[in-house]
Amino acid sequence: MALLEQIEPMKQEALAELRGAHDLAALEQARVNHLGSHGKFTALMKQLGALSKEEKPAAGKAVNTAKIELEAALAERRGELELKAALPKEPTDFTLPGRRRVVGKLHPLTQVTEDIVRSFRKIGFVVADGPEIEDEYHCFDALNTPADHPARDTQDTFYLQAGRDSGPRTQDSGRLLRTHTSSVQIRVMEKQKPPVRIIVPGRVYRRDNADATHNPTFHQVEGLYVDRNVTVGDLKGTVEFVFKELMGSETRIRFRPHYFSYTEPSFEIDFSSALTRKMGKEWLEIAGCGMVHPQVFENVGYDPEVWTGWAFGFGIERIAMIRYGINDIRLFYENDARFLRQF
Ligand code: DAH
Repeated sequence: MALLEQIEPMKQEALAELRGAHDLAALEQARVNHLGSHGKFTALMKQLGALSKEEKPAAGKAVNTAKIELEAALAERRGELELKAALPKEPTDFTLPGRRRVVGKLHPLTQVTEDIVRSFRKIGFVVADGPEIEDEYHCFDALNTPADHPARDTQDTFYLQAGRDSGPRTQDSGRLLRTHTSSVQIRVMEKQKPPVRIIVPGRVYRRDNADATHNPTFHQVEGLYVDRNVTVGDLKGTVEFVFKELMGSETRIRFRPHYFSYTEPSFEIDFSSALTRKMGKEWLEIAGCGMVHPQVFENVGYDPEVWTGWAFGFGIERIAMIRYGINDIRLFYENDARFLRQF
């Protein structure tokens, strides 16, 4: 049979085998059979060289056209089979719920602190910071706390190794772990001229044994506002605004007279809300506050005849415990994920 006549049947045979391949291995076998270096179609092409000058152009053209067709068929079938191979073997149930990743979250104390800071920022307060390792001057003396005040006693205060300073009290006196964030009031006023509008969230330390309501380290937020003509009314309005934001809009607050050496007059703040009633109490004590004592202004070089101000301080754990109904302060520090996950 003339070469030209063999092309079409051979092409048809190759096409049938390529298109009928049921997987990639069978397709490869079909390719080798026909288009491989020892394949049938390749053998046909090799015979072209032996043809006469007259026969060659027509046969050559026909062989090339057929080869292009076969290669296209090979590529098409390969595409189909590769797609089929990539499909999942098992049927997929698209109605199954997705797998959720466990995402970390903020510690409840951090969440409460951020809420407090957010409320104060709305009314123009900025966050200030100070050292946790303090000196007696900033923690007590500058705050007008007398040398014989029980808070200074080693019962309440962690003193650092140098021991309690027995000489005259100066800025270089003994080191301690701050017992309250009030020390930062002094540090800020020493550096900055009035007006001042700061809040200071931070860690404090006291020599208390841990129980359901005490821990040797806990957190406070201090607030300080200094300007001209500042009144107790400003203090009350500010505290009320923040506590309503934190504890719900039906929260009420009341001031009771109290004593702090760095404020005069001084008050304790009680608040009342659905949360306190849930704890079986109408009023719960929540914070200390007052008008900045003139002696404190003298100590930082502010003229008490010109400047007025108020300050307050409260415990962050206490707010978080009331807010979330937590009955043991130690839970905050145990890092038990079963507890922390709930907030
Ligand atoms: N420092 C006090 C405490 O630790 C809280 C406090 C009371 C802070 C009155 C103040 C204040 O700024 O004016 O219990």
